[in-house]
This record gives sequence, structure tokens and C-alpha cells, in this order.
Amino acid sequence: MERVASKAEARLAVTEARREGKTIALVPTMGALHEGHLSLVRAACERADYVAVSVFVNPTQFAPGEDFESYPRDLEGDLGLLAGEGVDLVFSPSVGAMYAADAAAVVHPGPLADHWEGEVRPGHFSGVATVVTKLFSVVRPDLAFFGEKDYQQLRVVERVVTDLDLGVRVVGCPIVRDDDGLALSSRNAYLSAEERSSALALPAALEAAAAAVAWGEREARAVERAMLERVAGVRGLELDYAVVVDPRTLEPLDRVDRTARALIAGRVGRTRLIDNAALAPSADIGGAGTTEGNR
Ligand code: PAF
Repeated sequence: MERVASKAEARLAVTEARREGKTIALVPTMGALHEGHLSLVRAACERADYVAVSVFVNPTQFAPGEDFESYPRDLEGDLGLLAGEGVDLVFSPSVGAMYAADAAAVVHPGPLADHWEGEVRPGHFSGVATVVTKLFSVVRPDLAFFGEKDYQQLRVVERVVTDLDLGVRVVGCPIVRDDDGLALSSRNAYLSAEERSSALALPAALEAAAAAVAWGEREARAVERAMLERVAGVRGLELDYAVVVDPRTLEPLDRVDRTARALIAGRVGRTRLIDNAALAPSADIGGAGTTEGNR
């Protein structure tokens, strides 16, 4: 496994792999890797001949006052985990290596980025779209792997890839959960035991939404109420949103007559958590997660 910190070295490494006719995959991460990231890496290793993982805590996707400074960083630990997975290249640039001091151009992803996370974290998706576009430009992958845990991010990246003709196949991978149901996230490390038990209300609310749909509820507002009832009164949880949306446009739905997505987000103490789940009125669960075909 080669480790590089400059764009030039990363470009060179991948160019050689491409010259050998290899299919190139990129797994973009911000490090502090867990089983969720490793599931992306494993999916990439199954699908591509050459797998690059970027480890970069991207400052432009954090708003002032967010946790950029304190975001968990453990490059040595990350390298140890990746070494066992058959990864070919780890690209871990510094902020200075990634962004010129006078960098000014940014990618605006459009209306998909306005709702939900975009409302709570203004500028967040522009930062994500910009860094992902830059990473794609350096690595020029055939395939790129993203987790469905950041469902809106996945949709935003697909939009950017399509609209800017980036020629990358975006592959969405299922959420990985701990045994207690909490979706894996590098930010879970911030939670105290008490906060963690409050955070479990998020996946429980998604289960309540799925159960309501399974029992025949088709009014999206009623499904949202089922989520709100589940989180009401949970100690220390401040909900940002709990909504039922179209899985592609992320616009609120009135009815759940076809596969929908429930999105939920909130803050427990100082930790911001997001989660989501497919809602399938029939046996077509999983349709919302099919994210390929946008090359
Ligand atoms: O999901 C993440 O970890 C980040 O948003 C990403 C895609 C690596 C861009 O910085």
C-alpha cells in the first residue's frame, strides 16, 4: 500500500495503474475510519483492480463554529486498518496541499443541497461538492464509493457528477450499524454513554416510520408524526428534522405510495447525528438505495 500526500504523487500512482489497464476506484473519507468506511473499501476492492482511499478532513465543508478543529484524526490507526484490506493507495494531503491559499472557485450543487443538511449547515454541500470534484480530478476514478448514511451527500455527489460530466460511476453502499442500532459515524466517539442512549432514538424513530408504513400508513405527515412521537421527550436530543422525502429529489412527499426515504437529524449534547432509512410500501425495499447508472 503506497501512501502519498501530494496531488502530483497521487496522479502519478493512478496514471501507472491506468496504463496497466486497471479499473480505478476511489473511496473518499475524512479518516477516523470505522466498519462503515471499511465496508466501502471492501465494496471497492470487489469491484475495481486498483483502490485509492483519500483521508482528508476537508475544512471547506465545516461552517465556522462546527467541529473542524476537534474532528477525530488518527492517520496511523487509519493506515493500519487499510493495510489489511488490499488498498493500493492512500492519499492524505494537508490542507495546504489540497487548497491553494488563494483558491476561490467552488462547486455549487444546486437545489438538492438547499434542504435538510443544507439548511442546518449552510455551505456544507458546496464544500463537499468542491472537494469531491477536486479528488475526482486528481484520482480520475472509474468508480467512487459513498455511504448511504450521508444520504443527501450521496444524492448531491451524483448530481454533481451528472451535471459536470465527471464520468465517475457513483456507488452507494448500505448503512452499517452498531449492535444497538446506531449508524456508525466518526462523530459517535464524542458521545457519552448517556448521550449514546439518547442517540438511539434516531434509529428507533426510523424503525417507527418503517413500521407505520408496513402497517399500511400512506400519509407522509402521519409517518413523520410516528417519528416525532418516538423522539419526543428524549433527554438531551434536539431534533433538526424528521421527514419523509422522495429518494431522488429529496423533496417532501405527501404520500408513501412508492419507495420513499425517511431522513432524521439532530444534536445530542454537542454531537450532530444524521440517519435515514428506506420506506417501502410494498416488497420493493432497497429501490431507494440503487444509485448507479449516472455515469
Ligand atoms: O463523507 C465524508 O466523509 C466527506 O463528506 C467526504 C465525502 C469524504 C468529503 O470530504
